[in-house]
Amino acid sequence: MTPPVSAGGPAPEPPRVVVHADAGVLARAAAARLITALVDAQGARGEASLVLTGGGIGVALLRAVRTSPAADAVNWSRVDVWWGDERFVPADSPDRNDQQAREALLAHVPVDPARVFPMGHLAEAGGGGGDGGGVAEPEAAAAAYAAALAARAARAGSGSAVPAFDVLLLGLGPETHVASIFPDSPAAVATETVTAVRDCPKPPPTRVTLTFPALRAAREVWVIVAGEEKAEAVANALKPGADRVTFPAAGAVGRERTLWLVDRAAASRL
Ligand code: 6PG
Repeated sequence: MTPPVSAGGPAPEPPRVVVHADAGVLARAAAARLITALVDAQGARGEASLVLTGGGIGVALLRAVRTSPAADAVNWSRVDVWWGDERFVPADSPDRNDQQAREALLAHVPVDPARVFPMGHLAEAGGGGGDGGGVAEPEAAAAAYAAALAARAARAGSGSAVPAFDVLLLGLGPETHVASIFPDSPAAVATETVTAVRDCPKPPPTRVTLTFPALRAAREVWVIVAGEEKAEAVANALKPGADRVTFPAAGAVGRERTLWLVDRAAASRL
């Protein structure tokens, strides 16, 4: 039995929206903010823990961290790196969020490989684990990730099923999905910390995702959104009282802070 996700502390603050001129400024400003947040976490606790997202703006943010003159202010060897969701495809697929993150940032800064926690990947046919430990089913990958999170949380002695992530990054889908929690899907009501996703409406159809209990354990959740095509989703998710099963991004709330970092186009219907 994994321990419960701890729910202590004061009620979370309502989401705060920060609007930037365009997607480029958004990526660079979010990168500056992220560097500062990691430095502050390391100042307070000696280490930092970060959850990454895929998607265009999420990857642009990582590239902006890499090219920032302040990137070296972070002690990268003391950052735990997790993912909010992953496409359940072979390890070397360019569709994997972790591949994209490595290319954009992780391969270029001195992270400790023992602190980088990619989600499990699909074993290639006939691979028999020879491809580096892939699994046949996303349920196995989800269970392994839940165990890795619980083990890391136990090390901190928090009594929680997942670590208290310092910053958890999320992109936003046009129908308000975050991570791979899609509207009215089983993942939106899951109680385990990590779950398999099948028949996902956005390809690839098979994925692994953190669920709300895990997302909401983060100290800070940052939802990063660019583009007019996301404006309706932003407005729906931020409507007071929006239901997180219908509009999953409404449930993406940090324990200490929830930030919506958006460009002007994405904010146009607020
Ligand atoms: C996926 C994507 C997806 C993405 C959002 C926002 O797994 O299919 O990672 O969840 O984060 O759709 O993506 P953009 O920033 O590219 O619009």
